[in-house]
Amino acid sequence: MSLSIVILAAGQGKRMHSQLPKVLHCLAKKPLLEHVIQNTLNLDSTMPPFVVYGHQGDRVKQALSKLNVVWIEQQEQLGTAHALLQVLPHIPLENRVLILYGDVPLITFDTLQQFISKTPADALGIITAQVPEPAGLGRIVRDAGQKIIRIVEEKDASEIERNLNEINSGIYLIPARYLKKWLPHLNNHNSQQEYYLTDVIQLAVENKVPIYSQAPSRYEEVLGINDCVQLAQAERLYQRRYAEKLMQQGVTLSDPNRFDVRGELTVGLDVTIDANVILEGQVIIGNHCIIGSNTILRNVILSDYVEIKENCVIEGAVIAEHCVVGPFARIRPTTKIASHVQIGNFIEIKNSMIDSYTKIHHVGYIGDSELGKEVNIGAGTITCNYDGANKHKTLIGDGAFIGSNTELVAPVIIGEGATIGAGSTITRDAPPQQLTLCRGHQRSIAKWQRKKKESREI
Ligand code: UD1
Ligand code: CA
Repeated sequence: MSLSIVILAAGQGKRMHSQLPKVLHCLAKKPLLEHVIQNTLNLDSTMPPFVVYGHQGDRVKQALSKLNVVWIEQQEQLGTAHALLQVLPHIPLENRVLILYGDVPLITFDTLQQFISKTPADALGIITAQVPEPAGLGRIVRDAGQKIIRIVEEKDASEIERNLNEINSGIYLIPARYLKKWLPHLNNHNSQQEYYLTDVIQLAVENKVPIYSQAPSRYEEVLGINDCVQLAQAERLYQRRYAEKLMQQGVTLSDPNRFDVRGELTVGLDVTIDANVILEGQVIIGNHCIIGSNTILRNVILSDYVEIKENCVIEGAVIAEHCVVGPFARIRPTTKIASHVQIGNFIEIKNSMIDSYTKIHHVGYIGDSELGKEVNIGAGTITCNYDGANKHKTLIGDGAFIGSNTELVAPVIIGEGATIGAGSTITRDAPPQQLTLCRGHQRSIAKWQRKKKESREI
């Protein structure tokens, strides 16, 4: 039996109190709906998933336009069964339909795959879970023989039913032929006056269709997101899961509860990551790297034996082996740093190439520059790369020594082995191997007195 996948994502998400449609709220910087779609990517289905969209539909479609899905509109949001009904004409009668909710993003591929393989072909499959706080969710009602007989929404539940802890995840696997028969007959006679998909359970019971239920490996996988509290809880669960996966690969995290990955991370062996590190976008960390606390790496590649000290913000950079960066360094996009380079505190580097063994230790700005090997940049050196209209390059040859507090007014070339005297403002090229300096003469005024504050009367 072939598989069709349907993701329901047309709701507004009133409980989010937001102008953004709920399914576009982000978990780990990625929309909830994108998580759900990606969880289905490698399932054995010949068609891309159908996504039912509605509330602010254009915005949802636009935000996820790069994904391979079939968009189906639900013009009015009349309930989950009504949402599914919009897709049914597109699904062959002989298929099974895996139904997911766009606000249940933590479900894993493994759980879904197991669910699909274990649900008997003619049964109605449902993922349910025992949860400590079932408030707001649909409860699973079983008979004395533990057979599922119906799902009751919290708003329609009796007090006894509200005490049930087994909840409906919103994930079902149902043969299309049943849905085509049942869905048109559901009504909206409930407290929310919505067409509830959950009512198919009763129809399965009435029609003697077997019901197969399965729990996820951890109940957290099926937590739905209806408000910002649940969104924050899901974020922590997601991060904890990611952190555990990394620790199982041998990464040392000093505190897995203070660690965030918001993208794709590849890590080598013997990597140590201190507290409050945030890794965003595509991040690759080589072997034997150390990342200091409060550091942000965004789209960064680190080779082996790189140490990033505390409080650095590094974005769009490639850093070769044995470099040491920080604390308090900021490296901006399109920067390439070769091996054994040392970047110290309060250094900003943008769109620059720094060759091996170069040192930039204290306070400075290097922008649109190319630095050779074994260059030494003194404290407070600044490349003046912007003339108010255009950006210009600074080129510094191998072995050059730039004295402290130098301004290099670009475009400018500092020759190999050149020395620049401290405090110079360099506006023309400096020849190789020579000392170039540019400063006013020093003089002393003997009888000069510093101004004193007049003493205040009390
Ligand atoms: C639903 C289930 C509940 C379950 C919970 C799990 C129903 C009636 N209830 O409740 O049993 O425990 O999910 O998280 O199904 N949607 C549409 N069109 C609509 C209405 C909803 O596409 O007309 C989509 C929403 O965008 C959302 C999903 O369906 O992604 C679930 O809707 P929501 O309103 O959040 O249902 P819950 O009250 O959470
Ligand atoms: Ca929900």
